[in-house]
Amino acid sequence: MSFRTADYVEDVSPGSGTLPPRAWYASSDAASLSLNGSWHFRLSPTADAEDAAFAEPGYDSGGWAEVSVPGHWVLQGHGSPIYTNHRYPFPVDPPRVPTENPTGDHLRVFDLPADWPADGGCVLRFDGVESCARVWLNGTDIGGFKGSRLPHEFAVGQLLRPRGNVLAVRVHQWSAGSYLEDQDQWWLPGIFRDVTLLHRPAGAVRDFFVHASYDHVSGAGTLRVDSDVPGRVTVPDLGVDVATGEPVTVPVEPWTAETPTLYDGVLATEGERVPLRIGFRTVALADGLIKVNGRPVLFKGVNRHEWHPRRGRALDRETMRADVLLMKRHNINAVRTSHYPPHPAFLSLCDELGLWVIDECDLETHGFTEQGWRDNPVDDDRWTPALLDRAARTVERDKNHPSVLIWSLGNEAGTGRGLTAMAEWIRGRDSSRLVHYEGDLTCRDTDVYSRMYAAHAEVERIGRGLDGGTGRRRRLPFIQCEYGHAMGNGPGGLADYQRIFESYERLQGGFVWEWIDHGIEDERYGFAYGGDFGEELHDGNFVCDGLLFPDRRPSPGLIEYKKVIEPVGIDGDGAGGTVRIVNKQDFADLSAFAFTWAYQVDGETVESGDLPVPALAPGESAEVKLPPPPPAGPGETQGTVRAVLAADTAWGPRGHVVAWGRFPVTARQMPSVAATARPVTGERRITLGPAAFDARTGALTAIGAVPVTGLRLDVWRATTDNDDGAAWQTDTRYGLLWRRLGLHRMRHRLDAVEAEGDALTVRTRVAPAAREVGLATVYRWTSDGGRLRLTVSVSPEGDWTVPLPRLGIRFGLSAADRVRWFGGGPGEAYPDTRSAALPGRWESTVDDLQTPYVRPQENGARADVRWAEIGGLRVEGDPEFWFTARRWTTEHLDAAAHLSDLTPGDTVWVNLDHGQHGIGSQSCGPGPLPRYRLRAEPAEFSFVFSPLG
Ligand code: GAL
Repeated sequence: MSFRTADYVEDVSPGSGTLPPRAWYASSDAASLSLNGSWHFRLSPTADAEDAAFAEPGYDSGGWAEVSVPGHWVLQGHGSPIYTNHRYPFPVDPPRVPTENPTGDHLRVFDLPADWPADGGCVLRFDGVESCARVWLNGTDIGGFKGSRLPHEFAVGQLLRPRGNVLAVRVHQWSAGSYLEDQDQWWLPGIFRDVTLLHRPAGAVRDFFVHASYDHVSGAGTLRVDSDVPGRVTVPDLGVDVATGEPVTVPVEPWTAETPTLYDGVLATEGERVPLRIGFRTVALADGLIKVNGRPVLFKGVNRHEWHPRRGRALDRETMRADVLLMKRHNINAVRTSHYPPHPAFLSLCDELGLWVIDECDLETHGFTEQGWRDNPVDDDRWTPALLDRAARTVERDKNHPSVLIWSLGNEAGTGRGLTAMAEWIRGRDSSRLVHYEGDLTCRDTDVYSRMYAAHAEVERIGRGLDGGTGRRRRLPFIQCEYGHAMGNGPGGLADYQRIFESYERLQGGFVWEWIDHGIEDERYGFAYGGDFGEELHDGNFVCDGLLFPDRRPSPGLIEYKKVIEPVGIDGDGAGGTVRIVNKQDFADLSAFAFTWAYQVDGETVESGDLPVPALAPGESAEVKLPPPPPAGPGETQGTVRAVLAADTAWGPRGHVVAWGRFPVTARQMPSVAATARPVTGERRITLGPAAFDARTGALTAIGAVPVTGLRLDVWRATTDNDDGAAWQTDTRYGLLWRRLGLHRMRHRLDAVEAEGDALTVRTRVAPAAREVGLATVYRWTSDGGRLRLTVSVSPEGDWTVPLPRLGIRFGLSAADRVRWFGGGPGEAYPDTRSAALPGRWESTVDDLQTPYVRPQENGARADVRWAEIGGLRVEGDPEFWFTARRWTTEHLDAAAHLSDLTPGDTVWVNLDHGQHGIGSQSCGPGPLPRYRLRAEPAEFSFVFSPLG
């Protein structure tokens, strides 16, 4: 006997019984009924463990569970989520799927509202079901579909009755479609987007296509709305009233992401009125550049997966709006909808608030890379109908959004004829937009040369046109559809990328990977990641690589990105008393912004005011005179200029800071301590000014009344995801090399304790077991009676072939909570993530200094600290230092897998670092640039301690 799962699950076809794809819209007057809510639910272990009797009216589902629709059953207590990056979590044997195929039967009984019209037809729409559905209405099998993040509609009018309609949906986790949906994300089966019943009056609109272009030379917009049911199009603000299919040209304000002007219109057919939100804009490939309304654009983008820490990819409107607002408030101007069309409401928000969109088709076959792309569905004609179906469902659904500039064929699907077929179909249907796909280096099907994670030097070569490549590619503009891998602490090097993007016309920016960590709220761990659900195959915390934490709190990476992509360049020149202002926008002048100036002495603002700045056109710059700085005194003086929103906007309040520049006016005076006190050696103790030391070991034990433990050289940090690097990286992965060398288990040998003259000198050698390399380290203590100065001298010995993770001292304080400092803040910074660190006076608790990376790792350093006060001590740096304090040791942090593993001890561990190694992006990209490596070389640095109060 042979056995096969129900054919529709494993056949390569997109489905059967569904209506042709069309534009997604909300009617003004046709009735609709949301079928979201609580559904009866039964989970089976295989695709056909149960027969279809449940779909029959009268079936008793009384004993079933309930799930929320939209939702994923694995996030509602039935089964578990699985995370893999690109490996299929089932044997690769397309189009077959495992017999173990979790299958969720969903049942919903509904009445039509009393006023539901009796005439016309009805359409049942599913906006997203993963991965394959079979649908019955009132016992009739109406068909099935695949294509998880795409809409599917059925004509159901003839089946409906006023009361007691039984809608039964069988959803299979795995199907042939799963082979096309191998995106790097959780596998989350379920009806995860809206289910809606739409009344279709006689003469209703079916599909329509709004063509609204803008002629930047004449300033006119041309509108033509094609509709397969004829009607009229009115746009009152433009005095437009034309028949469908008829073009009309009128003067308009164009739509751009910076100035998202939308005109409200109506498409009226005999049976229906549909609201239109029309944005006039023209996208073109011209002079080898992506131009909108005649001007090249620079994408300051992010890749956005849909994510909510409890609801997975079932996003509500508020969450979508929160995403767009957060993007706008952080200067982001573009989104790639990695790697599938988002909920359609998200695109409406992009239209309304202004974001450029690359709309990506729901397609990825990355797992075939494991077999050298053999049997890749995109190069197999049997799959082409499914690919074309996906392309059509994407384009037809989203074609009326002005924000969508570019269609993307999908992600990481190798190369093949199927992709070409998709591109050809898309061009035939919509010649008004460009086509993107990253996976084919020849660019045969695309209008843009796109790459992911290319290193800075290569991007620069591409900018200069020195990248070789075939004819077509050479003529295309360049974007990084993914760069700056925001996994854990990082990404580093964003400012360096931005400088390169801004230097070469061909480079049209990029999209940081990615917007949000896909951590799942979990009472065991805080947030769970791959492996936390006992998955057989998984890719750990590679799923947490966003600029937002899972709960949408901005990570330091987002704060850094906001600074790096500011729409206004502000470069102060303390000496000349001027500031250079550059309008870095592509379309708008500076009139939306107000400017302020201020001077700070030792981090405290002493003078401030408004700064008149001309409304520079995009690309223009001006030197603007500043009021004179305050008279020079002993303090360090800095100037600050800020650009803020001049008025409330749709996405941010008046006064919201969009850009700032901070520049030195007078330099800081380094702390000096006259070595007037002498060390006094007792039997067990040596005292020097306010400090006490162990006479035998030379270890500091107290400063004044403040006990200090374990002060010594420290070179280790809990490696970041970017230090560890991705397994496939061939480049140097320092996290591994450091551990191999033993930098996490350095031994401290005491060579001498010398209390002579005005100094206590402690000589040591710090080195790992089994290695000949070491760091000769001398601590030299002096005092003026009240303050204590420590100078640390470090001389590397042996052949150091790796940089150091950090170089500084650490010590423990027994009672510390609040921290005040003058230095970079308010958030963390590292050598290549320090753009947003604003020198000033800051205050925090020790707990609030921690950055809650979902997988714990080095975090929380404050840059350029002149002085800090903690636990009854004040520390001044010569030179400035990196300040870190936490309630656990670096070793604990290093060992933790989840935030829940970190339990505060009694001691606060403080690190004062002279140097930190850069962060880079090697969790999926290049490591830190050479200039951010912390080379093992002779170093000397000092701290001045004084007891407070
Ligand atoms: C890319 C891929 C993304 C994601 C990223 C790493 O190769 O397109 O989906 O996997 O790498 O986080």
